[in-house]
Amino acid sequence: MPSLAIIGAQWGDEGKGKITDYLDEEADLIVRFQGGNNAGHTIIVDGKVFKLHGLPSGVVRPGKLAVIGNGVVVNLEELGEEIDQVLQAGGSIDGLRISDRAHLIMNYHKKLDGAEEKYRGKNVVGTTKKGIGPAYQDKIARIGFRAGDLLEDDLLDDKISFILPYKKDILDLMGAEPCSCTDESLHEKMRRWRDMVGHCICDTSVLVNESLDQGKNVIFEGAQGAMLDIDHGTYPYVTSSATCGGGICTGAGVAPNRIDGVIGVIKAYTTRVGEGPFVTELSGEEELALQHKGGEFGVTTGRGRRCGWLDLVVCEHSARMCGFTSLCMTKIDILSDIPELPVCVAYEIDGEEVRHFPASISKLNRAKPVYEYLKGWKGWDDTGAVVRAGYDNLPGEMREYIEFTERYLKTPADLISLGPDRDETIDRRGSWWN
Ligand code: IMP
Repeated sequence: MPSLAIIGAQWGDEGKGKITDYLDEEADLIVRFQGGNNAGHTIIVDGKVFKLHGLPSGVVRPGKLAVIGNGVVVNLEELGEEIDQVLQAGGSIDGLRISDRAHLIMNYHKKLDGAEEKYRGKNVVGTTKKGIGPAYQDKIARIGFRAGDLLEDDLLDDKISFILPYKKDILDLMGAEPCSCTDESLHEKMRRWRDMVGHCICDTSVLVNESLDQGKNVIFEGAQGAMLDIDHGTYPYVTSSATCGGGICTGAGVAPNRIDGVIGVIKAYTTRVGEGPFVTELSGEEELALQHKGGEFGVTTGRGRRCGWLDLVVCEHSARMCGFTSLCMTKIDILSDIPELPVCVAYEIDGEEVRHFPASISKLNRAKPVYEYLKGWKGWDDTGAVVRAGYDNLPGEMREYIEFTERYLKTPADLISLGPDRDETIDRRGSWWN
């Protein structure tokens, strides 16, 4: 099995970074296919802590290629800071590859992100203000800068001469902070970016496909989660990229038949950052307790995440959109010592029972969760011992919680994560690359 995708089944922050880290030992390439530095993951290698947003997690692993695919939007200003972090820790970016087709996040995109949010008023999305939406807007409007442009001075001059005045006018119209740069200073900045990463820019679709032809192991690393997908998520409370399975094809430049397995990462409860419907959301003390126990604070924004019970209507939707072949249940240890665990199996909307996640935000806002109540289990002190004892020796109630999810989604939960460290993982499958 030479390719595996890792996709979050909820609204992001499911613990994909840890699972990528667990599986990437045997991977040759780790490929990001969507999103930008709105993502955030903390990786610990040899005791060194890296907080990465734009760089793919594989970059800190010697001997691997970390690929930023064409579907990603890249902020080279901020990527430079992450690169410095890696270099200062004694690492290298030798393995970094950036698609020549990847679009660049410019300073004016960040300013526009803030200004658009102000315009939305009470309909605010709660974006990360990283300029992700405005950068994708420019891609679709065909006025974006691509990484490959950095390698062509004449093309850059030409594009800067019409895009910069256009963007300055838009900033002005929206009452956003003005952009002080001139054509020359922007070109100069882009020359610096070329000096920094020009040698990493290439046709990454060719690279990934040829690597697969050679039998190399490839991980497609999703960012955010399926429910933040621009088409299939809780629109408009979504990010601006294709986070579901199809995004791998368009965002990495591979055909559907090149994806051999898709791991759906499901947090044992649900969290979401920013605005938007959340049917199983808790409130008050109950929510705060789960937020603190689970350490649910954003790596990118530091915001406290909204918390609620496991919602299998959500997970069924994402499983259908992504084609999960395996599940990885994360943070189930956080639910220990809760006597009874509600699991949402349907919604009641206007007196009707609904089993498929609806598109309508107003219906979602009226939806009431239909719960099944599963028995809780007692926690433990020594996670290492629990992992060594294996799946069959987990508390029976915990196994039932996992198997209830498996039955609902008709997909095996091959990985169970019981803590933040790579070793705190029960792997019921063992071999992933044959
Ligand atoms: P944007 O991606 O910054 O445009 O934000 C759009 C929505 O996606 C907001 O609700 C964000 O909080 C959410 N979002 C973006 N990136 C992440 C992430 O990595 N984890 C969780 N939520 C995210």
